[in-house]
Amino acid sequence: MAVKTEVPLLSIRGLSKAFGPVQAVNQVSLDIYAGEVIGLVGDNAAGKSTFLSLLTGYNQRDAGEFLYKGEPRNVTGPRASRNQLKIEMVYQNLSLAPDLTVWQNMYLGEEEHKWLWFNDTSTMIRAADRVLRELNARARATDLVGTLSGGEQQLVAIGRALLFDRELIIMDEPTAAISVAKISDVLKLIRQLRERGKSVILVSHRLEDVLTVSDRIVVFSHGTIKSILPNNNLDVTDLVREMFERREADRS
Ligand SMILES: Nc1ncnc2c1ncn2[C@@H]1O[C@H](COP(=O)(O)OP(=O)(O)OP(=O)(O)O)[C@@H](O)[C@H]1O
Ligand SMILES: [Mg+2]
Repeated sequence: MAVKTEVPLLSIRGLSKAFGPVQAVNQVSLDIYAGEVIGLVGDNAAGKSTFLSLLTGYNQRDAGEFLYKGEPRNVTGPRASRNQLKIEMVYQNLSLAPDLTVWQNMYLGEEEHKWLWFNDTSTMIRAADRVLRELNARARATDLVGTLSGGEQQLVAIGRALLFDRELIIMDEPTAAISVAKISDVLKLIRQLRERGKSVILVSHRLEDVLTVSDRIVVFSHGTIKSILPNNNLDVTDLVREMFERREADRS
């Protein structure tokens, strides 16, 4: 296998987080490269969501370091994660405001861009419409989010990532609550993001989706990375075995 010589987009070193006696994430290290899709799988309570919450700054890590393109970055909260690590999280429930328009939702929570609000509404609408067109969305910037389908709402969330030049888009179970017909749209979108050089972390219990789009698959177990598998000739059975087989060291 070729040795990667490029600097990773994001290097995660020794990330740990405990909740009381539960060591949810334990010394996790991972390099994420530009333009790759990482599938993150593992049993319930393996620590996947907690791991992501440390990347997005939603939870404070107990230990660990982040390097963005080789430079150390101190992530103290969600804003630092967005601005310093260029991470955008697309939540399962999307956390969009249905009574606001598409463009208002895109700028929501971007307090650091507050000057825009005082400046020029039409500029924001034009910018929002531009990313919607790039994503082949049917929705327009001035539509109310509450009137859009689930798939179109997901495009709004991803549009925000493009609008603010985020480099790593994290999706936790994006295909769990949508129809089979829409699943292929989400997977297509992930591929589109990769074609633009963006990186994606996809967490899903739908292993066939993970196998369809991932370049590498990270298997989480008991708060640690059990294995990192290049997605070559893998099938669902291989992944299930990897997820549930106990380590040799655990057997006695
Ligand atoms: N806020 C919290 N307070 C206390 N314990 C927590 C908290 N969040 C997570 N945990 C615990 O940390 C461990 C890892 O949970 P986590 O939600 O990260 O797993 P997961 O891999 O995302 O699971 P699932 O596949 O079910 O979503 C579990 O034992 C969970 O109970
Ligand atoms: Mg989870």
